[in-house]
Amino acid sequence: MESAVQVERAGINLKPGGRVSDDTALQTPVEAGKTVGIIAVDDPIFSCRDVDVFYGEKHAIKKVGIDIARNQVLAMIGPSGCGKSTFLRCLNRMNDTIAGARVEGKILLDGKDIHDKRRDVVQLRARVGMVFQKPNPFPKSIYENVAYGPRIHGLAGDRVELDEIVHGSLQRAGLWEEVKDRLQQPGTSLSGGQQQRLCIARTIAVNPEVILMDEPCSALDPIATARIEDLMEELRQSYAIVIVTHSMQQAARVSQRTAYFHLGDLIEVGETDRIFTNPRHKLTEDYITGRFG
Ligand SMILES: Nc1ncnc2c1ncn2[C@@H]1O[C@H](COP(=O)(O)OP(=O)(O)OP(=O)(O)O)[C@@H](O)[C@H]1O
Ligand SMILES: [Mg+2]
Repeated sequence: MESAVQVERAGINLKPGGRVSDDTALQTPVEAGKTVGIIAVDDPIFSCRDVDVFYGEKHAIKKVGIDIARNQVLAMIGPSGCGKSTFLRCLNRMNDTIAGARVEGKILLDGKDIHDKRRDVVQLRARVGMVFQKPNPFPKSIYENVAYGPRIHGLAGDRVELDEIVHGSLQRAGLWEEVKDRLQQPGTSLSGGQQQRLCIARTIAVNPEVILMDEPCSALDPIATARIEDLMEELRQSYAIVIVTHSMQQAARVSQRTAYFHLGDLIEVGETDRIFTNPRHKLTEDYITGRFG
């Protein structure tokens, strides 16, 4: 929930009444770090301030500040190349794995700096799990795909406990009924939509607090997409979810808050209903009405 006590950082190109004139908006450079809307929430799971990302000389994310609420879905939208995936990867330090990438600024998970030298990155990535665009099960059995994480993190004392974790995770991912009689078959023998739910089961098997999803449905048909979307609504009861999507319909269906990025800037953030019915920045409005991007 957005808190009324938080500071409203309105200001870029905005005229009184919340609109910018047509002729100036797209030419006027957006000032980094000046996001329209309310970036802070009460008791956030993630709090990001002044986050910059560089790939060599390329400044891909510019002074982005945003909080991520617990038990909510945050949708990140914006034109191709605006930095959605780059920002998402900041949250579990996946940019560390990209040569030449540099992240600056403060990112707090539950109040603690994720860049702290004492931080165990493997642990961080279990707490902040990730589901990718293309389902990527390990070349192992369905069972082993889910059991792998709990095993390396020592979450199960014995085989019975491990079985329970695998069973529970597949159930929560809405896949159990379809796979319970074929747990030893390869993960890759499943359909695309089933594979994506297997990847979600694998992610939740290690008790994450946040699930990051980068266009998780773009390789799926509408029925498989609907299943993932229903699942997100259930999962948010237990986790915070951040989803990158190119589908504005999907953002509107699944999220409670929406963030609009443009050329590395976080232009606007707010409650999803408000963003889609009453965008306050011209760039957001142009994007959601299909005039741009
Ligand atoms: N590994 C990399 N090395 C250099 N530049 C990169 C790298 N990854 C991304 N970029 C650049 O950073 C910018 C942001 O890219 P990013 O992939 O985050 O955008 P995106 O919003 O996720 O786009 P899309 O919607 O197409 O997935 C782009 O200009 C991109 O070319
Ligand atoms: Mg991307």
